[in-house]
Amino acid sequence: MKHLTYSGAVQELSTPQLLESRTPLAERGGVVSESARWNGRSVFVKTLVVDDPDAHARFHHEGRVAASLNHPGIVPLLATTPTQLIFPFVEGGTLRERLERGVLDVPQATEVVTGLLCAVLYLHSQGVTHQDLKPENVLLQDGQASWNAVRIIDFGMSHARHVPLDIHSGTRMGTPHFMAPEQFYGMRGDVRSDLYSVGVLLFDCLAGTPPYADALGWLAGLHTNRAELPGPEALHPLLRCALSRDPAQRPHSAAAMLHHLCLARQTLGLPPLRGLPLAEHGTPAQGPGSGTAGDGCGP
Ligand SMILES: Nc1ncnc2c1ncn2[C@@H]1O[C@H](COP(=O)(O)OP(=O)(O)O)[C@@H](O)[C@H]1O
Ligand SMILES: [Mg+2]
Repeated sequence: MKHLTYSGAVQELSTPQLLESRTPLAERGGVVSESARWNGRSVFVKTLVVDDPDAHARFHHEGRVAASLNHPGIVPLLATTPTQLIFPFVEGGTLRERLERGVLDVPQATEVVTGLLCAVLYLHSQGVTHQDLKPENVLLQDGQASWNAVRIIDFGMSHARHVPLDIHSGTRMGTPHFMAPEQFYGMRGDVRSDLYSVGVLLFDCLAGTPPYADALGWLAGLHTNRAELPGPEALHPLLRCALSRDPAQRPHSAAAMLHHLCLARQTLGLPPLRGLPLAEHGTPAQGPGSGTAGDGCGP
């Protein structure tokens, strides 16, 4: 599998870049997304096309957060111009596109979510919460459902300790299915809001649909009609926990969630994932001292 390479620093260019072979993909919130060729490589470019100050602030916030990150599970920003964010084009499509072709089996779903949690753990360690984790914002390099193919994108809703901008008063909202209840009530949310979204994503990978057909009704407290938990029972305590309305009932960190997921995979007789950078993350190998026991999320 091809791995993304990092040039180190993001190029900050003062003039908009000429792009070749441009293919427009979408336009949203005053930003056009397109695939193109730039400096001899395939790129994915977001271009700000409106003058609106809110759209401007949001766009540059996304760029500043993306520029601060460096992890194999996150698509790196290559360059910025006053109106462009230039990323490498990742071949293989989104997790949403993968799920449209059929649900993942249990080894694949748990592996993809493991990869996602490794990247989320890194984000949180940098003081960044994504706030919009969903299958549309996860790419699978070369279409592989494996932990090291996961690439998180789209920091348009993120909050970063080092980039103090409250973009949540603006118009863009998360997707109700993947949004934690506290976000629905207008709070910024914290790491546990991302863990809620990861729980929904695991549910979606296994079931092919998110937990609540009427997500807005559930978020508003009007009903609790959740679909039956998918997958084997070994995953149910973790799913139940991650999907708790009360953030205090969820795994308290990405490390804790990763720990429980690893234990569940072990219970299911699935092999350890080779090459996973787990030692520092509170893994089963660390045993009871890892500080993740006792939250009721384990198998
Ligand atoms: N680096 C990339 N390589 C290939 N496709 C991408 C890349 N980044 C985003 N995409 C595609 O473009 C879509 C929109 O990009 P995203 O950054 O999520 O913008 P938006 O703010 O419109 O949601 C994604 O869902 C994905 O299909
Ligand atoms: Mg997106």
